[in-house]
Amino acid sequence: MMNGKKIALGICGASGMVYAKRLLEVLAAEGAQVYAVASKAAKPIFKSELGVSFDDFAKDFSAKFESAKFFGDEDFSAPIASGSFYFDAMCVCPCSMKTLGRVATATGDNLVCRAADVALKERRRLVLVARETPLSLIHLKNMETLAQAGAVIMPACPAFYFGQNSVQSLVDFVVARAISAMGLKQNLIPQWGENSK
Ligand SMILES: Cc1cc2nc3c(=O)[nH]c(=O)nc-3n(C[C@H](O)[C@H](O)[C@H](O)COP(=O)(O)O)c2cc1C
Repeated sequence: MMNGKKIALGICGASGMVYAKRLLEVLAAEGAQVYAVASKAAKPIFKSELGVSFDDFAKDFSAKFESAKFFGDEDFSAPIASGSFYFDAMCVCPCSMKTLGRVATATGDNLVCRAADVALKERRRLVLVARETPLSLIHLKNMETLAQAGAVIMPACPAFYFGQNSVQSLVDFVVARAISAMGLKQNLIPQWGENSK
């Protein structure tokens, strides 16, 4: 279904690495080409939340899925750092408030921020799966700026109305909404009013 789609994925130092892992799995399994980058702060959080080092995970994952490529967070020679390289959409998942602020002000100095900057300037879909609570006025103003610039602000905020409220189904809900927000068809959850009860 996603064959040939090129997706940039930024993973930041926020809680919710389970979303990033699931999103990677679904995108790669559905045939998307994924260009992934984790920030410096993301890696220890990935290890503490999922019990595996990000670099080991990335190595195993790219051996399993040839279509997934991982880049260092200071690798500005990566394809997604340039507007001349076409990608269909970018998702930052999970997105910290620090990255959100840096993208809102175009002051980021890592590959996650640069690729997000590229997505905005090239008018491509940019989905920010923001993870923080509560939100300060500064967070909200940064979100407003980003929404005005064309980004989709998508809080990691599962819904409970499908009835099966296992952790996995709540994770899938957020991942499915992020995939839809990127303009791709998702098959993880039913569409309300179609297959739902
Ligand atoms: C265990 C842990 C969990 C964190 N969770 C969040 C979070 O959910 N949201 C957030 O905005 N920052 C969170 N932070 C703080 C960020 O990691 C920190 O601001 C970092 O500099 C973000 O860098 P990055 O945006 O380049 O990844 C967390 C930090 C730690 C150590």
